[in-house]
Amino acid sequence: MLSEKSRPVIEATAAVVAEHMPEITPLFYAHMFEAHPELLDGVFSRANQRNGEQAQALAGSIVRFAVHLLENPGTLPEAVLSRIAHKHTALGIVEEQYPIVYENLFWAIGEVLGDAVTPAMADAWTEVYWLMADALIKIEKGLY
Ligand code: HEM
Repeated sequence: MLSEKSRPVIEATAAVVAEHMPEITPLFYAHMFEAHPELLDGVFSRANQRNGEQAQALAGSIVRFAVHLLENPGTLPEAVLSRIAHKHTALGIVEEQYPIVYENLFWAIGEVLGDAVTPAMADAWTEVYWLMADALIKIEKGLY
């Protein structure tokens, strides 16, 4: 569940984050694949990266997850999480890879939004990321 501290921050910043996702996602992937080239050949499909469809899917789903938490306090979007977890387990995604996505995605958010990212905003979105990541990791462990 989203903390009382983070809720107003997410409410105030979801639109600006969503609006900049088309700029954030290509930077995120470029930065991540530079640091972890093995992910591009072994895990993420080049075809999907090229058409940009999957690129928007991952980061976009985090904003949708945040909006779900705002609109449905105390619940999780179970069906969406289950679909993503099935996709992830088919690809062999493991818990240890979640910090890699976190670091590179948040680096890209910082690059694009710059000084607009206040410490409170960084904390609130970090909370959202790990709420989603932990929920996925739990479902994925059950599937494995
Ligand atoms: C909180 C973290 C994450 C979120 C919210 C997330 C979200 C998503 C979503 C929405 C999809 C599309 C699912 C579909 O097609 O129905 C997806 C696919 C995928 N995710 Fe994640 N993901 C996360 C973490 C990770 C991690 C840690 C990895 C591995 C480094 C990863 C690798 C992939 C890959 C390879 C695909 C399929 C992409 C393709 O079609 O090439 N994801 N993820």
